[in-house]
Order: sequence, then structure tokens, then C-alpha cells
Amino acid sequence: EAAEKGGYPHFMLKEIHEQPAAITATVSPRVEDGMPDLRLPELTDERLRKIRNIHLVACGTAMHAGMVGKTAIERLARVHAEVDIASEFRYRDPILDPEDLVIIISQSGETSDTLAALRLAKSRGVPVLAIVNVVGSSIARAADYVLYTYAGPEIAVASTKAYMVQLCTLYLFAFRLAYAKGRLSEAETEHLTAELLRAGEVIQPRLADCEQIKYLASRFVNTQSCFFIGRGFDYALSLEGSLKLKEISYVHSDAYAAGELKHGTISLITEGVPVIALATQKQVYEKTISNAKETKSRGARVILFTTKDAVVPDGVADYVVRLDDYEELLMPLQLIVPLQLFAYYMAVLRGCDVDKPRNLAKSVTVE
Ligand code: G6P
Repeated sequence: EAAEKGGYPHFMLKEIHEQPAAITATVSPRVEDGMPDLRLPELTDERLRKIRNIHLVACGTAMHAGMVGKTAIERLARVHAEVDIASEFRYRDPILDPEDLVIIISQSGETSDTLAALRLAKSRGVPVLAIVNVVGSSIARAADYVLYTYAGPEIAVASTKAYMVQLCTLYLFAFRLAYAKGRLSEAETEHLTAELLRAGEVIQPRLADCEQIKYLASRFVNTQSCFFIGRGFDYALSLEGSLKLKEISYVHSDAYAAGELKHGTISLITEGVPVIALATQKQVYEKTISNAKETKSRGARVILFTTKDAVVPDGVADYVVRLDDYEELLMPLQLIVPLQLFAYYMAVLRGCDVDKPRNLAKSVTVE
């Protein structure tokens, strides 16, 4: 097993470090002359143009990837998109139209609820596109179209590199859809595709200089409860950062849309409670900062994750983690890395079984 870990103490850390290679393996084969090419001959631009609604359906981390996908699809292509938890979708008689597209996201391709959701969509005559990591898996076989992610085998129960390439694949899809819909020009599509292609390079420094994250984990190691806040993409990342932390370190954690805090969670913010505020999106930056400040004034210890040049007013954060300049729309790709590492180091410092957290399975093939 030590050999399989390639010198890393845990599979999770190894897999976090494999992300640049997974990005290249997944994105490069789907770029032709600088443009995204899904290599799905039946899913032509003409067919894409006709899509009315998109339903992204998945479980767990894959569902969180769907939330980033939804935001990218709606923002770029202006196609209505919604995210569903597979176990909800399958039992709530969803409103589906043959002109819709269902996107099923799954690392293993075997998750029972996700497979059932796929079958439901097919039984209603709705085309299904699956984003799957395991070749020949049940979901891959049952879908109309398959976009494989090339993360390679993921061993750690907590998903990292598979999530990363699910994001990349959803971005590629969103770019092509937006181009087909005439919402992005060729030049804009090329620009975004080029930015996506260099994501692996962009995250390298996040992997290399993890001392700050290790230090933060050491400061927060004894915490009982933690909150993540953010808006838009940063809300989707809050959910995933929070899930990673609670899955493997057993620290209770809750993710909130930053603006929703005042409608509930703020009552839980007392002296010393950690709040992880994510603020990478200019349009809502000031809003999230003001939410972080509200928690700080109630005694929270705030870690703010933001961009390189963002102005952070006094009294907002105890610690600031800065990301490098990058296309704002793709910031989730860079932001997720320190959040994964934070969860990882917290779990290590707390003496948890990082790769095999209690009660969790890598693939859930029962209901
Ligand atoms: C399990 C795993 C999660 C995963 C979820 C969906 O709960 O522990 O890490 O996100 O299943 O799995 P899938 O293989 O469908 O992506």
C-alpha cells in the first residue's frame, strides 16, 4: 500500500496532488483549434441550441460540482439549470420535458440513487448526458451521451481530484453550450477555454505552498464547530469545503449562503467560532465582506479566502488566504485546493483515519 501511495502519507493527499495531471488529461483531448469540442457527434451545436432546461442530478460531492456547473451554465449560456439531489429527484415526480437535458454526475458511476434518477429521466424520454469517472460503469452504460472524466482511480473516500475534473467538464460543456446559443463569441470561447487549459498550472502554487493552510489547521484543530459562507460560486464551494471538513475531521461544519446567515446561523456565532468566508467574486465581494464582518463583531475567528488584490478592510478577518490572479469564472478550480488541504490537515492533526472515515463508503450502491 505504501508503494501505491507514491510516497504520500495518505491517498487523499496524493490525489489532491494529482489534480493538475487530471485536469490536463480531462481537458486537453476536448480542445480543438482552441475551441471546446465535446467529441459527442450526436450532441451537435444545433441540438444544444434547442435545450430548454438543464437538470443536474447527483449525490454528495458530485452534486456540489453540479452547483458550480449550474452557475456557469446559467451565467454563460442563459439556459435555465437546476441542481437536484438524486434521492430527491427520483421520488418527487420532477417536471421534465423531452426538450430538456439531464446531466448525471458521478465519480463511480454506480451510486444507486443517481442511477435511479438517470433511469427515471430516460423513462420520461429526456436525453441524459453522464459525466462519469469509471469507464463502463452502470451510469456510463445507461446514459445517452458520456463525458468521461480522466481523474484515474480515486481511492480516498473523500473525493478531491474527481470533483476537480467534474468541474472542468462542466465548464467545457457550459462554454460549448454558450457558444452554440450565440451567447459567447468565438474569441470569448477561446479565451475561456485557454484559461481552463491552464488550470493545472494555476493550482500548482496552491499545492506547493501549503504552509499557511497547515498553520491555520493547527490554530483551529480543537474547534467543535465551523461555518463556511459565500455567495454564488463561493456558496457552492462553501458546501464542498464544509463537506470535506466534516467528512474526514469529524468537526461539525455548516455551509451557508452568506446573505442567509442573518436568517438563522448568526445565532450560533459566539466568541471564538471559526467562520471561513469565501470571497472570490467581484460582483458580490462587498456583500460577503460585510457578512464576514457581522460574524467578526460577534466574536467569530474569521479566515477569509480571497483574490490577490482584494482590499480587505480592518475588522473583517483574522487570517487572509490570497489566491493568484485567474479568470474569475474559473476561480472555483483554484479555491477548492486550499479548502481540500484545510480539511486534510485538520483530519491529520486530529488523528483521524483520513482515507477511510467512519461510516462512509466510497461508492453507495444501496439505497
Ligand atoms: C459517496 C462518497 C462521496 C460521493 C458520493 C457520490 O457518498 O463518499 O464522496 O460524492 O458517494 O458518489 P459518485 O460515485 O456517484 O460520485
